[in-house]
Amino acid sequence: MRPSLLKSTAELLRRSRGYASSANPERKVAILGAAGGIGQPLSLLMKLNPLVSSLSLYDIAGTPGVAADVSHINSPALVKGFMGDDQLGEALEGSDIVIIPAGVPRKPGMTRDDLFNINAGIVKALCTAIAKHCPNALVNMISNPVNSTVPIAAEVFKKAGTYDEKKLFGVTTLDVVRAKTFYAGKAGVPVTEVNVPVVGGHAGITILPLFSQVLRPWTMSEVSCKSDTHDPSKNATPASNSLSQEDIEALTKRTQDGGTEVVEAKAGKGSATLSMAYAGAVFADACLKGLNGVPDIVECSFVQSTVTELPFFASKVRLGKNGVEEVLGLGELNDFEKKGLESLKVELKSSIDKGIKFAHGS
Ligand code: NAI
Repeated sequence: MRPSLLKSTAELLRRSRGYASSANPERKVAILGAAGGIGQPLSLLMKLNPLVSSLSLYDIAGTPGVAADVSHINSPALVKGFMGDDQLGEALEGSDIVIIPAGVPRKPGMTRDDLFNINAGIVKALCTAIAKHCPNALVNMISNPVNSTVPIAAEVFKKAGTYDEKKLFGVTTLDVVRAKTFYAGKAGVPVTEVNVPVVGGHAGITILPLFSQVLRPWTMSEVSCKSDTHDPSKNATPASNSLSQEDIEALTKRTQDGGTEVVEAKAGKGSATLSMAYAGAVFADACLKGLNGVPDIVECSFVQSTVTELPFFASKVRLGKNGVEEVLGLGELNDFEKKGLESLKVELKSSIDKGIKFAHGS
């Protein structure tokens, strides 16, 4: 192949993946809780993302060191560290995306709901600052319990008059990441050929993987740190029918308990951080591509929804220039999934209500 042809082919490939450098606008991403177990590897991954031009790392402690360290990496994003309340406004100013992994993680024996008392207050304070300093940013909520922290954020933004339901996301990508990995391992198929929608919420039985809809990835172009380009013409792989009902039930349980598996293995030293950082980076990358106008970017996320009677629900979401472009439906569910859907609603509703009540101070 001629060198000029090689060059233009490479450029075409880059563009097709949404990473063309010259065409992309400047994007600022802020990470709140950047010095934590998730925050540090997430800061690293976002520094490596070519769509990020400015990376703002905020925490109540430890950010100067993390920022200095990450800033030495020779990728384009300009890194700045901010520490403490006084610097929060500057950290947020002009952000296109704010990712929130601030708060305490679980210890063995704890549910995500046990984190509520501490994390609810942290999320409320951070969202109050977001409403003031970057009301148009997309918010990627990682802090648990996501089923409650997202409703808290919505109420804070409503009170401030800045709420836009298209811009608030509960990050449930780790559930999808786990479902893909566990399914591929069990079915003996390449993990790159698997995609599993995970719907509902992000705690215990509210996590509902739809293994009946196991799909090939919507794009085969990349494996890591990419989001999926949705092509509804790609149907279920033959592998989706290869597992027994018993296997599917065990995989469902393992996906629901994936976080606890890590919490127990870490034996008191926190919850998932590395896989969560990866998942957070995948989701933020999808948001960036959506903002930049890359078409058909689809990820699962816990968002304001009319898919069920609950006000918030995780399902596939098409991302675009304004955040949520379209909340996609659940598709056809089998009897096992229909039963799972009905049983999760009670717990999910109660977690949503708890968040709303907290935000109203009662
Ligand atoms: P960590 O304790 O290692 O880090 C949390 C960081 O938040 C610390 O650096 C701390 O200083 C910081 N922080 C505390 N209050 C803050 C405030 N007001 N403003 C800014 N930063 C503040 O915890 P880790 O492991 O990073 O987990 C963070 C959160 O993510 C937890 O709530 C955890 O449950 C959640 N998580 C969510 C997952 C998901 O799938 N959505 C998966 C795994 C964890």
